[in-house]
Amino acid sequence: MKGIRTAVAALALSQMPSFAFADADTDELYARAIKLMSESPLIDTHIDLPQIIRGLDRNPLSILPNLAASLPGHVDIPKMREGHLGGAFFTVWAPCADFVGQSYGPNFLGMTEGLRDSLEVLDIIKRMIEQHPNDLSYAYSSSSIKSAFHSGKIASLIGMEGTHLLGNSLSTVRLFAEMGVKYLTLTHTCHSSFAASNGGGGPVEASSHGPGLTEFGKELVGELNRLGVMVDLSHTSDQTTRDAIALSKAPVVWTHAGARAVQDHPRNVPDDILKLIGDGERKNSGIILSVFYPVFIGPTPETANVSRVADHIEHIASIVGRNHVGIASDFDGMYAGVHGLEDASKYPNLIVELLSRGWNDTEIYGVMGENLMRVMDQVDAVKQQMKDELPSTAIWERRNDLPANWGGPEQAYLPYEVRDLVNERIKHDEL
Ligand SMILES: *[C@@H]1O[C@H](CO)[C@@H](O)[C@H](O)[C@H]1NC(C)=O
Ligand SMILES: *[C@@H]1O[C@H](CO)[C@@H](O)[C@H](O)[C@H]1NC(C)=O
Repeated sequence: MKGIRTAVAALALSQMPSFAFADADTDELYARAIKLMSESPLIDTHIDLPQIIRGLDRNPLSILPNLAASLPGHVDIPKMREGHLGGAFFTVWAPCADFVGQSYGPNFLGMTEGLRDSLEVLDIIKRMIEQHPNDLSYAYSSSSIKSAFHSGKIASLIGMEGTHLLGNSLSTVRLFAEMGVKYLTLTHTCHSSFAASNGGGGPVEASSHGPGLTEFGKELVGELNRLGVMVDLSHTSDQTTRDAIALSKAPVVWTHAGARAVQDHPRNVPDDILKLIGDGERKNSGIILSVFYPVFIGPTPETANVSRVADHIEHIASIVGRNHVGIASDFDGMYAGVHGLEDASKYPNLIVELLSRGWNDTEIYGVMGENLMRVMDQVDAVKQQMKDELPSTAIWERRNDLPANWGGPEQAYLPYEVRDLVNERIKHDEL
């Protein structure tokens, strides 16, 4: 989900140049791409299909059967099958307050219905997988991705986009992890009690708590490591990104971003941050999964095409290595994909493009999904190492509902001894 819509959304697609590979050997490359895609899964780490389902009907679950036939937008089962998609992360997302004309207020205590909404979206994803068992199979690890893929199903994983959805609580993130959320983007386009965002593309006002992670956000990164949830740095401010890389014991991920050196946009990753990622003692062994959103790809939204996506991937790989890159469409979270990658039926075009640039089979398996699965294994290994650590007890310091005042009229629901303690304790306003 890119977030803000721009003027380009109004562009008539019919006015755009048509897409074509110039290479006469394309048929052969296409056949080779399909063969490679049948051997190892292409995993897309960012598909916003749930927001389409939620947006089409007041009763979103009534839309789920349509997925087997056709849905408006970029993604349905026939398109994913035509595109030989091996695995997908479906996104739990609900808008930042300003999208819907509301505000979190300076302490981020407003509009906590994002937590309810994200539970409803998670329910949509789970029911969607459940109701299409011949095509979708729930996965949460590299081994479950591989077994889904080898049984002919699209491995279906869950990512969550934004800490504005957590109700300012680490309890919720622990439960989301238990419910299958495998990555958490540290912000969407708004700041949160955990971290500063880089906004939606235009200038973003400073957060009320500084440019990077809050103390609470630092606790979150440790908690995500402990839970085996991947730390996603798409959308975060550069300082949040640096803070998270410095803190994380596990590899970090960008589930949908490009290279800022190729297209100067705040949603893309700058070279000095890319230099922190890769193989080697001092580097974080994370992964950057390249997005298809035309505004991030460039050179202009109208001319963005599959070759230019490959330019982003190759630039990123020139710094981090071809074993630290991957693929992430942002389908259904943008007005249109780039030329050549218009919807979920088009993934082979990107593999053709990389093959035509001389990427070998090992590198293609890597960019399609092997690199990501290695990162997932490393994240799970960190979880295993931390298995004896207790959960973080941290709370958002600006919450004004804690300690709870739940004793009822005259504290009649409390044992006398507890009532006395509660009456004596320091109240929030006195802290
Ligand atoms: C993408 O656009 C560039 C620049 O216009 C062009 O050179 C290239 O051939 C295009 N790629 C495809 C696959 O059409
Ligand atoms: C592919 O390229 C990588 C370097 O990125 C190299 O290590 C590997 O041996 C190559 N594999 C084949 C099959 O040529």
